[in-house]
Amino acid sequence: MSGAPTRSVSANPGRCRRVAGVPPDGRRYAPPVAKHVGILTSGGDCPGLNAAIRGFGKAAIQRFGMDVLGFLDGFRGVVRDRSVKLETTLLSGILTDGGTILGTSRDKPHKMPVGGKVLDMTEAVVETYGKHRLDCLVCIGGGGTQKNALRLQKAGLNIVTLPKTIDNDVARTDITFGFDTAMQIGTEAIDRLHSTATSHNRVIVVELMGHRAGWLTLGAGLAGGADVILIPEIPYDVERVAEAIAARSQAGKHFSIVAVAEGAMSRAQHDEVQKLADGKENASNKEERRAFSSQLDGFHADHTDHTLQLTEQLEALTGQESRLTILGHLLRGGTPSSFDRLLSTRLGTAAAQLVESGQYGVMASVQRDAIVPVPLEQVAGRKKLVPADHPWVESARLVGTSFGD
Ligand code: F6P
Repeated sequence: MSGAPTRSVSANPGRCRRVAGVPPDGRRYAPPVAKHVGILTSGGDCPGLNAAIRGFGKAAIQRFGMDVLGFLDGFRGVVRDRSVKLETTLLSGILTDGGTILGTSRDKPHKMPVGGKVLDMTEAVVETYGKHRLDCLVCIGGGGTQKNALRLQKAGLNIVTLPKTIDNDVARTDITFGFDTAMQIGTEAIDRLHSTATSHNRVIVVELMGHRAGWLTLGAGLAGGADVILIPEIPYDVERVAEAIAARSQAGKHFSIVAVAEGAMSRAQHDEVQKLADGKENASNKEERRAFSSQLDGFHADHTDHTLQLTEQLEALTGQESRLTILGHLLRGGTPSSFDRLLSTRLGTAAAQLVESGQYGVMASVQRDAIVPVPLEQVAGRKKLVPADHPWVESARLVGTSFGD
């Protein structure tokens, strides 16, 4: 022992210093236990995912002292227990990066391809969650992810989700991150197509992503001044589209830009899909339901070359040389816009606050200028589609854009 004098806390109360964890009344309280949180990105990627991971991670670790585990490749990483501990060093320098440092997949826990079979792996997710003593799993994704997240919540996990997708079709949120950047890319593409369309007096059909929802095509089409906008929510007649192009020609404008969502449908196609969807909805047994479901899948699989067929039809109907440009995954790549960086950061940090306060079973949603928790039950299985009377549609019609209807 050294000769240093020992000091008794009680012998000299006037000079005693508070010892951490020991309040003046002498009772000992357990220090606060750090929360253990898992995070994953699931579904198609989009710009802003890294900004959201960073926003969540920095707030969770630095502000709230949580341990954060990043699961790799979406739900597959939880099933296989493949993860990386997120340190703040890993979160630095990723704000502006496209893609996701965690990787992503479209795998669903309850229908996962394993060894050539499709199995329900929900139990494996629950096991991984328990093994890491997680307090919550944060799931960043679009509509499919919200459905999977709700299933996991029902299986007993604490869940918080964030809405992302370039499609902007997640229910109960004004906007999803990724949409603004994709709209900017789409708009720039339409701007560039204008000059070449003008030089050659051509019709240029440009296809943008969006199977069920037309937000992206509508937004980029309106901002880029497309002459025709075709979206899944407004079925079109090809003859009406051709008429709009011919009218432009007669007015001395010998080029046209037709912006088409990948899921846009002619009236006949729309009726066919509606019939199949109604059949599925009203099926009297599982077999019947499955049959309608597979016919619907078949329809959507065949629909992939629909924009090419439309381009050929327009060339035949208008007699004007027509070309097709498919933007595809270009719309999902690269650095997020400042709007998306801001939104992802706000949603990520808000999710950390929700976890800290123990508000589970919710999606952090955007409502006007606020981030608001919305119960997952109100989000999962719903889609936010473009209403036929949406102000963007109205505005487009007022500047003379045709919807082919
Ligand atoms: O859900 C976003 C989205 O980009 C859709 O617009 C598009 O239809 C789909 O993903 C494409 O998915 P994948 O990259 O899996 O082909």
